[in-house]
Amino acid sequence: MPDSQNNSASAPFLPLAGKNVVLGVTGSIAAYKAADLASKLVQAGAQVDVILTESAQEFIGKSTFAALTHRPVTTGLWEANSPLAIDHVSLALNADCIVVAPATANTLAKLALGLSDDALGATVLATAAPLVVAPAMDANMYVSPAMRQNVETLRGRGTTVAEPGEGRLASGLIGKGRMQEPANIVGLVRQAIGRNGDYSGRKVVVSAGGTQEPIDPVRFISNRSSGKMGYALAEAARDRGADVTLVSAPTALQPPAGVNVLSAHTVNNMREAVLTASKPADLLVMAAAISDFSPVEVAAEKIKKNGSGLTLELAKNEDWMPLATGPRLVKVAFAAETGDAAFKARSKVESKGAVFTVANDVSEAGSGFGTDTNRVAIVDATGATEQLPLMDKLAVAHAILDRALPHLK
Ligand SMILES: Cc1cc2nc3c(=O)[nH]c(=O)nc-3n(C[C@H](O)[C@H](O)[C@H](O)COP(=O)(O)O)c2cc1C
Repeated sequence: MPDSQNNSASAPFLPLAGKNVVLGVTGSIAAYKAADLASKLVQAGAQVDVILTESAQEFIGKSTFAALTHRPVTTGLWEANSPLAIDHVSLALNADCIVVAPATANTLAKLALGLSDDALGATVLATAAPLVVAPAMDANMYVSPAMRQNVETLRGRGTTVAEPGEGRLASGLIGKGRMQEPANIVGLVRQAIGRNGDYSGRKVVVSAGGTQEPIDPVRFISNRSSGKMGYALAEAARDRGADVTLVSAPTALQPPAGVNVLSAHTVNNMREAVLTASKPADLLVMAAAISDFSPVEVAAEKIKKNGSGLTLELAKNEDWMPLATGPRLVKVAFAAETGDAAFKARSKVESKGAVFTVANDVSEAGSGFGTDTNRVAIVDATGATEQLPLMDKLAVAHAILDRALPHLK
């Protein structure tokens, strides 16, 4: 488990615990969103040092960030908040990641050129830490040839560019230029910090959520899976350097940033997407709750409320996890059971061709569907069972990845 696993039992897992993040805020209308970003980074466990450009201070004050981060805020090259008394060098040396959000056209141009005439430029130039930028500007500025070139220059140096979204901009224009949501930027910071982690160079496929088997055009059979365990696995693998594909049944969750998300509603959609994505992968974790039964017939029209009731004939779905193969593929199965989950999971290790099964008793309090915590047992091919304590699902995800890693080819 990475050093960010510093939390006790079921306490929230802080993915940025022990990490120093420098947040550069520049002179864009979107500067107000940087306060939310600072707060989210702090809540994820990071120590956050904010640098405001001169223009940023026209939009938002340093007191906001000082209060949110409990740290001094740097606003110029000639301040001396740090023990070194050379703030930009001190911040640059200590940083695990520098994120510039919002990033103006002006600052992006300066960063592409390597200018250091302000505290932010000097800090970026003086660091070896990964850089994440979240451009925010009017649509015409973002598509301008100069901007395209600057963004490509930064990308070419390994900078993560949080592509702006499309929508109504402050100017009233509709176009691409809105800063990405702070939650996504936190995800990209986590990914940038973990870029060289123990899953670096590995392709990981995770399935998540409960599939929906149609009865008619408006109704379906599904299950209580929220998708939280699978999403946590996708985030954990991303945070450890993996190239992650998340095959997701419909959920209420936001797609994790920096992860390739494929949506799959039905068992058949899921099967096709997982089998294809798994071929070149190193690891498949089947956390999705796949319907065991599907209606034999799907009505073309909405079934009317005639008569006294409705009898559905259901057919058992074939278990296709054994068909997921690839030259390097290692598989981890999940077994959601009620009552002695570990015992019931034992038979699934071999039948699914998995190196181990993650068993969870979904009838237990704080465990299983919809909760933020889970209490699982890892059951391997020999039948050996390791019971893990009740933990945040992100901590469970890291524990699963820890145990899968030695099996990878
Ligand atoms: C009201 C207002 C809003 C602005 N919003 C943006 C913006 O969203 N994106 C941008 O690139 N520049 C924007 N600018 C222009 C920048 O503030 C200007 O280029 C400034 O020099 C940026 O300095 P900095 O990059 O050092 O923060 C805005 C200017 C004003 C007056």
